[in-house]
Amino acid sequence: MTTLNENLTKLFPAHIAQLQQMTKTALSRENLEGIVIHSGQEIKAFLDDNSYPFKVNPHFKYWLPLIDIPNSWLVVNGEDKPTLIYYQPIDFWHKVTPLQESYWNDFFTIKILTKASDVDKLLPYDKKGFAYIGSHIEVALALGFEAINPEPLLNYIHYHRGYKSKYEHECIRQSSMLAVKAHQAARHAFLQGDSEYDIQQAYLKSIGYGNNDTPYVNIVALNKNCSILHYTALDKLVPQVHQSFLIDAGANFNGYAADITRTYSYKNDKFAELIARMDQLMLNAVSGLKPGISYVDLHIETYKAIGEVLREFNFITVDADTATESGIISSFFPHGLGHHLGLQVHDVGGFMADERGTHVNAPAEHPFLRTSRTVEANQVFTIEPGLYFIDSLLADLKASANSDQVNWKNVNAMRGFGGIRIEDNIIVHKSHNENITRDLGLI
Ligand code: GLY
Ligand code: MN
Ligand code: MN
Repeated sequence: MTTLNENLTKLFPAHIAQLQQMTKTALSRENLEGIVIHSGQEIKAFLDDNSYPFKVNPHFKYWLPLIDIPNSWLVVNGEDKPTLIYYQPIDFWHKVTPLQESYWNDFFTIKILTKASDVDKLLPYDKKGFAYIGSHIEVALALGFEAINPEPLLNYIHYHRGYKSKYEHECIRQSSMLAVKAHQAARHAFLQGDSEYDIQQAYLKSIGYGNNDTPYVNIVALNKNCSILHYTALDKLVPQVHQSFLIDAGANFNGYAADITRTYSYKNDKFAELIARMDQLMLNAVSGLKPGISYVDLHIETYKAIGEVLREFNFITVDADTATESGIISSFFPHGLGHHLGLQVHDVGGFMADERGTHVNAPAEHPFLRTSRTVEANQVFTIEPGLYFIDSLLADLKASANSDQVNWKNVNAMRGFGGIRIEDNIIVHKSHNENITRDLGLI
């Protein structure tokens, strides 16, 4: 059996070759000599000497799995071995991470930087032909860069980031493996009656994570809080009853994200039936994710299928076609079906029709959909349909002309459960889908 490290060692060369090729083409199109990628700098809170948690530039971690080293740089031109300028200060206040021996080392010419402000000695002398990619514009200007985050260059890279290498697929599988383990621990904590805060602690502890190690702030919601789409409050009090639990939580591996959601009912009740029905609907949506289809069409089909569920459970009094036409389904499913997944949870390039970055909006009736792009092999997506009972949206619906399309008694009975979202992570291959989340056994 191959170990994880052997597998990454085997896959990394082709990943770098893909990035080199992409860089070479991008540079010749933009008439540039090379790209200088800044990992980032720590950012201090206003009038304070404490920094926010460091978030590395995604362009930096695209090339190599270093996610916590500020003041480091990459110089790439698509032909020569890329140069890594690795920051390793002499600092008796903080932990300094020494360069670890790893499968990626040989693919870089590595130079050690001991003083952040000395970087110019290691960067190309003439900056004219080089583009800076990073978030510290003042640093780029001081160093003499003229091309700073040029849009055509970024568009080209962001479009191509949609097609993940096999190395990236493996990193996403590994992050999913961590997330699935933690989801199982969280479910266990819910069933034993823990608070939201304690469930979050169980999640983190099971995979040895600190609060800032997840790729986004975990959503850990009990009961009515499941209706708040981005609920992150983490109540420390145990609620009087446990009715429902929605957890949208991920993990990181080498800078690649997993983004998984599950919803559970405490009892074997109507809400549990609704979850089972939504699970069936979500798996059906996953099987519709194929090369050549438009993600927008899949969203619209699923939107209508949620209308069917609303009718089956007698939450609405009209059929799915009428509900689609009147738009009332949006009050129950107000977000998009999913998004690209990779170095960023909501990965870039979802709205790009081509490598120039031609932007295609989501349809006006579905403003929160995060991708309008045609689905192709090697892309990675989330599929995450939802069905919620959100007081503010239901109040608007009740006050609207469509109020009589709703069976309010049945809807009101569900408000305390908040809502359902089920989210899996999928690699689209040429001939089949790989549902990473289900393959790992998360139900
Ligand atoms: N966790 C954010 C999302 O599902 O898109
Ligand atoms: Mn999510
Ligand atoms: Mn998501």
